Amino acid sequence: MRIVIASDHAGFKLKKAIADGLEARGIDFTDVGTHSEERVDYVEYGEEAMKRLTSGEFDRAVLVCGAGLGMTIVANKFKGVRGTLCLDEYMAEMSRAHNDSNCLTLAGRILPADEALRVLDVWLDTAFEGGRHQERLDKIIDLENRNFRLVE
Ligand code: RB5
Repeated sequence: MRIVIASDHAGFKLKKAIADGLEARGIDFTDVGTHSEERVDYVEYGEEAMKRLTSGEFDRAVLVCGAGLGMTIVANKFKGVRGTLCLDEYMAEMSRAHNDSNCLTLAGRILPADEALRVLDVWLDTAFEGGRHQERLDKIIDLENRNFRLVE
């Protein structure tokens, strides 16, 4: 599994902890920034990560900002992205089992690193259940097809 990670300044420290966690698990990842705690806008970093996820270069993404909200909004502007803000292990489990999340978003100003790493582990280790949940995702795909007007 290849993972792209990104953050703004408010998520920078937690992103570093996530990078260490991915490395410890032997997971191939690329960090597209930001690379310091100097203030930046989360939008560009989220966009870069989502472009590289939706191009097929990566299988999943982890985005971190302060509250996790801005990055979640950016993620879900991309067709095919199911970006899920997870504040605890239950949300991480449901985001995978029921929503087939392909983009975990985290809140650097809320979650301590040890909790975020537990959330990451659950998100990585939980399989999508399919069945009735796939039927719901199919409805979301239909919704995307009706509402996203992609102009390249
Ligand atoms: C940055 O101050 C903060 O607004 C950002 O990290 C994020 O929380 C936005 O949703």
